[in-house]
Amino acid sequence: MESVVSVSKISKSFSSGQEKIKALDSVNFNINKGEVFGLLGPNGAGKTTLIAILCGFLIPDSGTASIFNMSCTTQSEKIQKRMNFVSGFSGVMDFFTAEELLYFYCMLYNLDNTKKRVDTALKITDLQKHRKRIAADFSSGLSRRFLISKALLNDPEVLLLDEPTVGLDVDAASNMRNMINKMKKTGTTILLTTHNMREAEELCDRVALIKEGRIIACGTFAELRKKFFPLEVVEVHSDDPDKLEKQVLATKLVIKTQKLEDSIKFYLKSKTDVNKLLKAVISSGVGIRSITTIEPELEDLYTKVMRNV
Ligand SMILES: Nc1ncnc2c1ncn2[C@@H]1O[C@H](COP(=O)(O)OP(=O)(O)OP(=O)(O)O)[C@@H](O)[C@H]1O
Ligand SMILES: [Mg+2]
Repeated sequence: MESVVSVSKISKSFSSGQEKIKALDSVNFNINKGEVFGLLGPNGAGKTTLIAILCGFLIPDSGTASIFNMSCTTQSEKIQKRMNFVSGFSGVMDFFTAEELLYFYCMLYNLDNTKKRVDTALKITDLQKHRKRIAADFSSGLSRRFLISKALLNDPEVLLLDEPTVGLDVDAASNMRNMINKMKKTGTTILLTTHNMREAEELCDRVALIKEGRIIACGTFAELRKKFFPLEVVEVHSDDPDKLEKQVLATKLVIKTQKLEDSIKFYLKSKTDVNKLLKAVISSGVGIRSITTIEPELEDLYTKVMRNV
């Protein structure tokens, strides 16, 4: 598979007062062509720092970052022709309408077919009806959409999105996710950052979990689930959870139980024990309303990985 974005042993520290903060600590990953890759992590984990390095705005202390096999540090101008980004450090100029600004950016980037580009960018971000408004007066959600329309002008092969849905209302966030999926279908390679595990699962082919500047896990969600949650989980709604728990624990099939308001979760060591568990549940004599095998909650996975490593 063709690797389009490559990050190798990137480290970056900042001085803040008396303290030295290691924002990135030997970070490695590759993003393949056409892939949507998510960088997931808590506040201060290093996500924006990494995007700034990929954009060529920050120089790493060590390591290399490249896009299309060109160095993000020394060949950023060349890369910019084929990539674009939306981040907190993207600003909007005063006094001009959204449409005027987009035409201006086309000129700045030396782009042809400007009318078509501007119309398409406004259409994808659903901003047509706001095109004559002063962009600097936009609400935060509209500004975000405007910045994305700006990022689409050069038809980027690589798009870097720092928290693309932050500050968007429910409809706008859903449009944004649709837009990302559409871009993916056209072969765009996308790196996005988010705190939202569900959003990442919906959009990303693979994710890297980053904590205190270090990648602590990387892979597809299926791989992460298998690695961090190898257990099979069965949830049972019953009339007498206490009795059920006691009887099932006696079988020694479960590693852990978790009692919820009106159900109980049994964590099994292996899939092959599901049958035995069902037999134990039925023979317990307790009234059962439902039995379901469940996927571990994404939030559980996130918490487990972030806490344990
Ligand atoms: N210019 C700077 N000067 C000093 N410290 C900085 C600077 N930029 C970032 N940092 C620090 O580096 C660390 C990583 O910051 P970064 O903005 O990359 O995190 P993040 O993962 O994007 O967080 P968030 O989810 O809050 O956006 C933080 O501790 C931050 O305070
Ligand atoms: Mg950030």
